[in-house]
Amino acid sequence: MTILVTGGAGYIGSHTVRALQEEGEEVVVLDDLSEGHRKAVKGTKLRKVDLKSAVRTKKALCEIRPEAVFHFAASCYVGESVTDPGKYYRQNVVALLNLLEGMAAASCKRMVFSSTCAIYGEPKRIPITEDLPKNPVNSYGRTKLHGEGMLADYHRAHGIESVSLRYFNAAGAHPDGSLGEDHEPETHLIPLVLDVALGKRKDIKIFGTDYPTRDGTCIRDYIHVMDLARAHILGLACLRDGRAGVRAYNLGNETGHSVLEVLEAARKVTGHPIPAEDAPRRPGDPPKLVGSSALARNELGWQPRFGDLEAILATAWNWHRNHPDGYGETG
Ligand code: UFG
Repeated sequence: MTILVTGGAGYIGSHTVRALQEEGEEVVVLDDLSEGHRKAVKGTKLRKVDLKSAVRTKKALCEIRPEAVFHFAASCYVGESVTDPGKYYRQNVVALLNLLEGMAAASCKRMVFSSTCAIYGEPKRIPITEDLPKNPVNSYGRTKLHGEGMLADYHRAHGIESVSLRYFNAAGAHPDGSLGEDHEPETHLIPLVLDVALGKRKDIKIFGTDYPTRDGTCIRDYIHVMDLARAHILGLACLRDGRAGVRAYNLGNETGHSVLEVLEAARKVTGHPIPAEDAPRRPGDPPKLVGSSALARNELGWQPRFGDLEAILATAWNWHRNHPDGYGETG
């Protein structure tokens, strides 16, 4: 039976496609290639479909008739979501609606959904557990929270079972160096820091040095993309066991690193001084996000393999050094 992976040409999607292939699963990728890379998808069928088209999405689902859908295709920049919320509602809500309608039409009952720790907003308690209030502080988080609500509604109405995976900060690259992070434009801290080490950028701007944290900069929980990919495989197993219903899990390393600590670790891994400059806060950034992943460990049997920030950075650096222009193409 086919696993349909939307956004399979993107960063987390492509690593998960590889993990599915290693499990011997049959995979079809749906991607509009607006941000994904054809070269990131090898050994599997890629159909260029824009999920914002209800008609095309339904047609694709009814032709492929997948056993399960892994839904990665989304817009995911916190800063952009504040200035252009419409893009986020179209991609993260309307496209998901089309997909769920297509799944209902094709009698597909299983979804692994890419959610995010951004749904918690500024949590009252750290580490964040799944039951904490969901008060997103940016449109990105709000659209993903709507997504989780839609999954509950489609479970009630159409019996679609789902596992939502609330990623903390995805980082790193495939250890064999063949897949990695390549966004255009790039806004994420780690790839930007590594661009400075490569000489592609002069310095890194530190967005806010007056947060109520140990060194004044934002704290995040960085989790390796391969560990995220593994969680999707375990999510599929949970759906196949009939254990799922509607579930949601945090996926993080349960350790927080400040922006300054990331910079320091990157200096060690790359051997480059990586100059940095203080800059104003970026709107929509919560001061501290660190998750508890106890539920995923206990219920899915998930165990992150890359717990150490330097080990995560080393895989990212290996990719960046060998692919200074990323995949070198889009579309
Ligand atoms: N940062 C800088 N300078 C930069 C870029 C980022 O100081 O040039 C800071 C940000 O302000 C933030 C931290 O580095 O404090 C991490 O920023 P990223 O842009 O790398 O990641 P975000 O935390 O904003 O966003 C990521 C994912 C989202 C997810 C979110 C949850 O991209 O999908 O984590 O925190 F929702």
